[in-house]
Amino acid sequence: MERYKTLIDDWKGFKEAVSKPALSAVRKNRIKARENFEEELRESFPEVEQANWNNEVFRLPETEKPGKSMLHWMGEYYVQEESAIVPVEVLDPRKGDKVLDMAAAPGGKTTQIASKLENKGKVIANDVSGQRMKSLHANIYRTGSACVAATNYDARNLPEDEEYNKILLDAPCSGEGDKARRNFTAADKGERESLSNLQKQLGEKAARMLEKDGKMVYSTCTLAPEENEEVVQHLVENTGLELENIELEAEHRRGVTSFQENEYGEEMRKTVRVYPHHQQSGVIYVAKFRK
Ligand SMILES: C[S@@+](CC[C@H](N)C(=O)[O-])C[C@H]1O[C@@H](n2cnc3c(N)ncnc32)[C@H](O)[C@@H]1O
Repeated sequence: MERYKTLIDDWKGFKEAVSKPALSAVRKNRIKARENFEEELRESFPEVEQANWNNEVFRLPETEKPGKSMLHWMGEYYVQEESAIVPVEVLDPRKGDKVLDMAAAPGGKTTQIASKLENKGKVIANDVSGQRMKSLHANIYRTGSACVAATNYDARNLPEDEEYNKILLDAPCSGEGDKARRNFTAADKGERESLSNLQKQLGEKAARMLEKDGKMVYSTCTLAPEENEEVVQHLVENTGLELENIELEAEHRRGVTSFQENEYGEEMRKTVRVYPHHQQSGVIYVAKFRK
């Protein structure tokens, strides 16, 4: 992680946060949650705390096991890292929207979109992995996300006969900021470069499938600027997408304008980075575009 020391203003806070377990978080599912949801949640988890930036997100001590409660099995909440909740908040899906989630499994963000639509709208949730489609289907079913249809394409080959007014590209990435996956170790150059190429191709595809005036959100859970600001710069320069400034209540830093010998430009300050010391959660990078 020393590679990123110059990018992270509170390096000490970052190091401390990544050495501790992440807090568990649960997101209320509007489709299934009953009226007394919060009361029931507090009965199951007396130490639960509402997140300071989102009244549907609740933090639990890391010793709690929210995946083992009846409320979980009934689909009243979804267990999700707090930072992973940010991209859909930025996309801001509304009832009646037609949304494409290009890399959707296991469905944390798909089910968040369905919850925001309250099933009034359409969502295509796609993923290339046959294995991961199983958990995507199970999560769609458990959360009652009836507005979602799931597809199993390499997203670069999705049929272009449909356009969407909102697209989420929660891209495959090196996961440097995902404790469970690689415990905050930096990816090697080859991996970063091949993922960056794939991410650019997926972003170009999203640009073609987005309606005029539509919104697209790009996100990763990695620190590497090659997979974040470099991809965003490529999309701004090579597609009809324009960057929009992200206003976010959750604590964050702005995207970086340069790294090592690469210049990404001031516009990258419209994008955001959430670091582990902000929410005792994983890394998330988010950019928002308009066509
Ligand atoms: C960061 S994960 C998605 C997490 C998911 N959005 C969620 O919130 O639960 C990235 C996903 O991209 C999928 N993926 C990788 N390459 C892909 C491609 N070419 N087309 C579509 N999906 C792809 C992986 O199988 C993986 O499920």
